[in-house]
Amino acid sequence: MANSSDDLNREWIALAPAWIKEAREGRNPTRNGLLDPPMLAACGDVTGLRILDCGCGEGRFCRILMERGAAYVLGLDLCEPMIAAARELQSEREAYRVQDAQDLGFLEDETFDLVVSYLNQCDLLDFAANTKEVFRVLKKGGRFIIANLHPMRSATGKWHRGPDGEKLYVTVDNYFAEGERHWPIMGTMITNFHRSLSTYINTFIETGFLIKKIIEPTITWEQLATYPELDDELRVPNFIIYILQKP
Ligand SMILES: C[S@@+](CC[C@H](N)C(=O)[O-])C[C@H]1O[C@@H](n2cnc3c(N)ncnc32)[C@H](O)[C@@H]1O
Repeated sequence: MANSSDDLNREWIALAPAWIKEAREGRNPTRNGLLDPPMLAACGDVTGLRILDCGCGEGRFCRILMERGAAYVLGLDLCEPMIAAARELQSEREAYRVQDAQDLGFLEDETFDLVVSYLNQCDLLDFAANTKEVFRVLKKGGRFIIANLHPMRSATGKWHRGPDGEKLYVTVDNYFAEGERHWPIMGTMITNFHRSLSTYINTFIETGFLIKKIIEPTITWEQLATYPELDDELRVPNFIIYILQKP
C-alpha cells in the first residue's frame, strides 16, 4: 500500500531509466498511434500560449507543444530523473521543475492559457487537489486537457482468455471500489488509482470547470495497420480524454 507521494515516487524513480529509453527510442504506440492525435487536436492552435504540463515525464509532450509554437511550456514532475532527462533536451521556451502536481502553490493565479495532464491524474493520491490547483492557475477561458486511464480499464481491465489464449472479453469488476491498483510496466510495478467516471466528472464540475468534450479514443483500420499492437483499442475503452474550460 502506497501511503504517500514519496512511496509512489520511488516506483517512478525505479521505472524512469526504462521509461525514458522507451519514450526516446521506442515505438510508443499508445502515445504516437492512439493518444497524441486527439490530444493535439484538443490542444488546438497553441501559438503564443503559456502552457503547463502536470506530470510531464521526460518532457516529450512539452517539446511537441513548443515545436507547435507555444510561447512558454512549464513541465512539472515529481520524479527527479524524469526532469533531469527533460532538461537535457530543453529549449529556451521550456522550463522543467521537480514538483508535486497536487501543489502548485509556487505559481501565481490565472497565469496559464492551457494546462495538460497526459496520463498523470491516475498516478495521484488526490487528483481533486490537482484539479483545484489547475483551475486556480488557469486564466479565465483557459483549458485543461486531461488524458487518463478509462475508469472501465482502471477498475481491473483484465482479458478473459479462451482455451488457446485468445482474447474473449475484458472483465469489469470492483468498479465501485475506488483506490489502488498495481500494474507491471517494463519490469517494475506501478501504483495507479482507480476512480469511477462520476467521481472524475463530478469533481471537475464541483471545481468550477465546464466540460467541453469527452473523447474515448479508438483507432481506424488504417492506424491499426501501422500499429497492430493497438488492436485492443478497437474493442475496449482503455483511455479517456476530458476537455475542460475555466469559465
Ligand atoms: C504515465 S507517466 C506520463 C508521463 C508523460 N506525461 C508522458 O505522457 O509521457 C506519469 C508521470 O507522472 C509523474 N508523477 C507521478 N506522481 C506525480 C505527482 N504527484 N506530481 C507530479 N508528477 C507525478 C511520474 O513521475 C511520471 O513521470
